Order: sequence, then structure tokens, then C-alpha cells
Amino acid sequence: MIRFHEVTFAYNSTKVLDNVSFEVKPGEFVFLVGQTGSGKSTILKLIYMDCLPTSGSVMVGKYISSQLGRRETPLLRRTLGIIFQDFRLLDDRSIYDNVAFTLHVTGVKGAEIRKRVLRALAEVGLSHQRNKMPAELSGGEQQRVVIARALVNTPHFLLADEPTGNLDPTTSREILQLLKDINTRGTAIIMATHNYELVRRVNERILQVREGKVYEVELRAS
Ligand SMILES: Nc1ncnc2c1ncn2[C@@H]1O[C@H](COP(=O)(O)OP(=O)(O)OP(=O)(O)O)[C@@H](O)[C@H]1O
Ligand SMILES: [Mg+2]
Repeated sequence: MIRFHEVTFAYNSTKVLDNVSFEVKPGEFVFLVGQTGSGKSTILKLIYMDCLPTSGSVMVGKYISSQLGRRETPLLRRTLGIIFQDFRLLDDRSIYDNVAFTLHVTGVKGAEIRKRVLRALAEVGLSHQRNKMPAELSGGEQQRVVIARALVNTPHFLLADEPTGNLDPTTSREILQLLKDINTRGTAIIMATHNYELVRRVNERILQVREGKVYEVELRAS
């Protein structure tokens, strides 16, 4: 469960969120929409506690922003899969090694790494490409690798910041479908996006960030 309770957040003088409360339950799929600069990425940063609220609290599973010990931040992040807005693969290593990288960093052991990497690559349909280098893949395939990388810890929540930002419409729809499939298998997804065409295609919950507030949006059939 993710819960924002009366969260206000400002970067120095720029107030981004003003007394915002909402929840995302296990297994949900939520679009986070709003104009550029409205605060979508900031909300995701508050969830993975790269930012802490100026007032109010963010609760993610058993972790609470106001009571977060230094050592707990990495533990919290291991319960999340994070796809950053400016996704980057490491150009100098294979697809397999890109996905394995974070596991090495967190001290997971050999056989377990292999099992998790192969499972994550299978989930995104890229097992057969695992020995290629990033430059040998299309943009859509690269984004699948980024998603696989976010799945290696079997997160409860997957945070995706504009995961279709640089992709053509067809590839964007495929990535959305992949995220929907991952959601169907039980992972909750919060996806920040500008792409209203994509949002309209599927009937999922929409949270809109506007002028410091977060609104539930109901899409009416047109
Ligand atoms: N590190 C920072 N320091 C100061 N201000 C920041 C910082 N990061 C973001 N901001 C400001 O906070 C506001 C919200 O930014 P945020 O990145 O959350 O918007 P966004 O909705 O994700 O936009 P986009 O759709 O362009 O990605 C903007 O006004 C932005 O300029
Ligand atoms: Mg953003």
C-alpha cells in the first residue's frame, strides 16, 4: 500500500504539492497525468523517498517518510521497481549484464542472479536477445530491458516515469500492453505520462496533478 497523507512538498521556493492525500492499493494500475512541470516525477520521487515531504507523510508498505532511518532507504527501494524518465542502459555491457547489474550491487549470489535475470527477461519477451549489446536493440526493445531491470527484485510496486516518452505510437502501445500484463500478474503500476492517447485506450485509474493538487479523473466515453 502507498499512502500520501496531507503531503506538501517544495523545492526551496517552488511549491509543487499542496496538502495532497491519496492511496494506491496493491495490484492497482494508476496513470499519473498532468502538464509538464506539474509534479508527476516529484510524486514518484516522494514514493521512492528521493524527496521527503515538507509536511505530511508518505507511507510505502512498512516504510514511513517521517520515520525513515538512513539504512532503510535502499531496503525500501528494493520493494519497488523504478523506471526513470531518462532511462539509460549501460552501453558497454550485454542485455543480460544490464539486468544483472543491480543484483550484483545489492549482493545477490550467482545462481540466484541468473535465475532472476532470466525470469525478468522472459517476462518482457527478450530472453533470446540476452547476449546482445544495447546498441543492437530497437528503442522499444531497450525499454523492455529497462522494464526487466525494474522487475528483477519482483517488486510490489512498479513506478514508471514516462516509459513511452521516446517511442513511436505502435511501440508505445506494446509497452503499455506489457505493463498491463505485468500488472495482471500482480504487480501494482504507477505510470506517469503525457500520452493521453495511450491513457484513453485502457480503462484504468487516472490521477491528475494540477496546480499542486491531485485529482481522481473519470474518463467519459466520447
Ligand atoms: N531538483 C529540483 N530543484 C528545483 N525545482 C525542481 C527540481 N525538480 C523539479 N523541480 C520543479 O518542480 C516542478 C515539478 O517538476 P516535475 O519534474 O515533478 O514535473 P513533471 O510533471 O514530472 O514534468 P514533466 O512532464 O516535464 O516530466 C517543476 O516546476 C520543476 O521545475
Ligand atoms: Mg517528469
